[in-house]
Amino acid sequence: MIDTPLLEVNDLSVRFGSVAAVSSVSFTVRSGEVFGVVGESGAGKSATAKAIIGLLPQSARVEGSVRFRGEEIRGASDATLRKVRGAGIGYVFQDALTALDPVRKIGVQLIESLQIHKDVSRKEAAKVAEDLLGEVQIKDPARCMSSFPHQLSGGMRQRVVIAAALIADPALIIADEVTSALDVTVQRRVLDLLLKVCADRGAAVIMITHDLGVVAQTCDRVAVLYGGIVAEEADVFDLFDAPRHPYTKALLQSMPRIGEDVPFVPIPGSAIQVVGKLHSCPFAGRCSYATQECLVDVPPVTTEEDGRQYRCVHALEPVS
Ligand SMILES: Nc1ncnc2c1ncn2[C@@H]1O[C@H](COP(=O)(O)OP(=O)(O)OP(=O)(O)O)[C@@H](O)[C@H]1O
Ligand code: SF4
Ligand SMILES: [Mg+2]
Repeated sequence: MIDTPLLEVNDLSVRFGSVAAVSSVSFTVRSGEVFGVVGESGAGKSATAKAIIGLLPQSARVEGSVRFRGEEIRGASDATLRKVRGAGIGYVFQDALTALDPVRKIGVQLIESLQIHKDVSRKEAAKVAEDLLGEVQIKDPARCMSSFPHQLSGGMRQRVVIAAALIADPALIIADEVTSALDVTVQRRVLDLLLKVCADRGAAVIMITHDLGVVAQTCDRVAVLYGGIVAEEADVFDLFDAPRHPYTKALLQSMPRIGEDVPFVPIPGSAIQVVGKLHSCPFAGRCSYATQECLVDVPPVTTEEDGRQYRCVHALEPVS
């Protein structure tokens, strides 16, 4: 019997008016894995994440399919989506403060989040919440429960948001730039913690980041987004060892490597915003391999035997 993937995103597109934020994105996340989504600002990472859990504004036009445990959730009713969010798919967004209600105590918020999904008493929910705060290394969980968000440090708040995302035991966590608002010294600790708590529960993670260093250290597989398309998807080891797509190659070259005497080369030009329907390779304006062929249509997906995929018509050609 073939296992149903945990999450299947198929041909997903998101438009905001004339802006094509996401164009025909497909990927699959399996149970327990850490799947990276990496790309520059504006690549469509958050739009993809929000489309998966139905959190985009009404004005966004979303097309395609999102199956969670085999069930279509794209365009599902609010009631279905509310059930999936939290209990099926938890999410942690960039800004911890906006994820918490500033005028209600942490304990009240956590207890409520659990009681939406699980039939437990207030007392039982409080115990689960306190234990979870301990698990995310909040030193005095009882005190934290009776605190307001602004009484906590940034790092503590982000831990509380992680606890809130995990409280109903979801099978998948979407972590969108979870640490970028934090001090560099705290970032690594919070990330490790998130991954440990997810691994302990067997939860899969979609790790959204612009940082290839984070991908290298945390992910099993990764999709590289550029201009709203998946430029390349591969096992992390293969991606770093032998990138296929010129954008991936450029991203790797632009990454400073500690302890290695290799100069890093910034990617020329700036990231694009796709207006109107995409009719060419979105990377063409910045790509040193670009030819006329790249401008006639969006490059088709090439799939190699081991499953890695990319969208580039000159991917296997040597560097000129
Ligand atoms: N609510 C919105 N209304 C209009 N345009 C939007 C909206 N949200 C995103 N966009 C546009 O869609 C594109 C993709 O945005 P998205 O937020 O998904 O990028 P991102 O990859 O998450 O970037 P970042 O790394 O900066 O978070 C961008 O061009 C952005 O300007
Ligand atoms: S399709 Fe062409 S422009 Fe796009 S990445 Fe490949 S070589 Fe560069
Ligand atoms: Mg984003």
